[in-house]
Amino acid sequence: MDELLNIKDLRVKITDGGSEFYAVDGIDFRIPYGGTHALVGESGCGKSITAYSVMGLLPDVASVDSGSIHFRGDDLTKLSGRELERIRGKSIGMIFQEPLASLDPVFTIYSQISEAITLHEKAGGAQLKERVTALLKKVHIPDAKQRLESYPHQLSGGMRQRVMIATAISLKPALLIADEPTTALDVTIQLQILKLLKELKDEMGMGLFLITHDLGVVSYTCEQVSVMYAGRIVESCATKELFASPMHPYTKALLKSIPKGKGGGKKIAAIKGMVPSPEHMPKGCRFAPRCELADKKCEEAQPVLAKVSTGHYVACIRPWQ
Ligand SMILES: Nc1ncnc2c1ncn2[C@@H]1O[C@H](COP(=O)(O)OP(=O)(O)O)[C@@H](O)[C@H]1O
Ligand code: SF4
Ligand SMILES: [Mg+2]
Repeated sequence: MDELLNIKDLRVKITDGGSEFYAVDGIDFRIPYGGTHALVGESGCGKSITAYSVMGLLPDVASVDSGSIHFRGDDLTKLSGRELERIRGKSIGMIFQEPLASLDPVFTIYSQISEAITLHEKAGGAQLKERVTALLKKVHIPDAKQRLESYPHQLSGGMRQRVMIATAISLKPALLIADEPTTALDVTIQLQILKLLKELKDEMGMGLFLITHDLGVVSYTCEQVSVMYAGRIVESCATKELFASPMHPYTKALLKSIPKGKGGGKKIAAIKGMVPSPEHMPKGCRFAPRCELADKKCEEAQPVLAKVSTGHYVACIRPWQ
């Protein structure tokens, strides 16, 4: 049977001024119908570019160079702009880090959500109003009816993200893509939004593609997780397995940097060094300059993602150390 989302060997090239590089360099990523899969990694690893490829919203400098993105059986990389528009916002809902940037300050909450609906469906009048009110209730916005006439700046960050979620789910999408949905929010609000996403996902049976730099967010929401580093996936398995037996040195470092304690707290150990820039991409393992286990052998060739146990894949030449 077709999967909800099946990304195969995707390469996305960025041509920026004189430089040309692959922001996404041959990744595989799958979500079954109703499944949840997170893509996690530090800033600049290619997570958003992966999501934009699925949504057909790549910036001008970027283009899909090779590979495929099948959504419910159709290869999205082969569809026209118009066909993608029909899917985006209807079958694939999206939410981003900063809800204020996605909301128009001069329009009321009602007009923004209703527009998302009428873009794809004929609807109007009292019925549409009721439908939007029900959506606000579904994302637990108090005084839903009164809130219809509010403007984005009259809402808190958490409430604005709820409005974005209401918009994203308004047409019952089969897949929700959430790119750093809680990064801009306070820790207590983060948890509420994650709870909401989980609740909606369970209730509506939609798939969830979650993007985050924070593994703590993953443990709460996703069954599967793939760790991305410098354009490639370096580890992929069930979330429980990742926390119980992480294998890639990068994953282990990410796990150590999860904020501990109630209310988040401080990062206990940030990972030393930085994600390599495209001009200084190591020839062998891309994590080698930051890896404590690195030696000459690691610099010879790029490790490929290989199976270490059932459903657990790692791209490292010595995953058991
Ligand atoms: N609009 C753009 N112009 C030039 N480079 C970009 C653009 N968007 C992303 N990139 C580059 O692509 C790489 C991956 O970026 P991105 O997918 O945004 O990372 P992440 O979401 O993991 O933080 C980075 O090297 C980034 O600098
Ligand atoms: S291949 Fe070598 S450098 Fe890369 S993660 Fe594994 S041990 Fe570290
Ligand atoms: Mg991003």
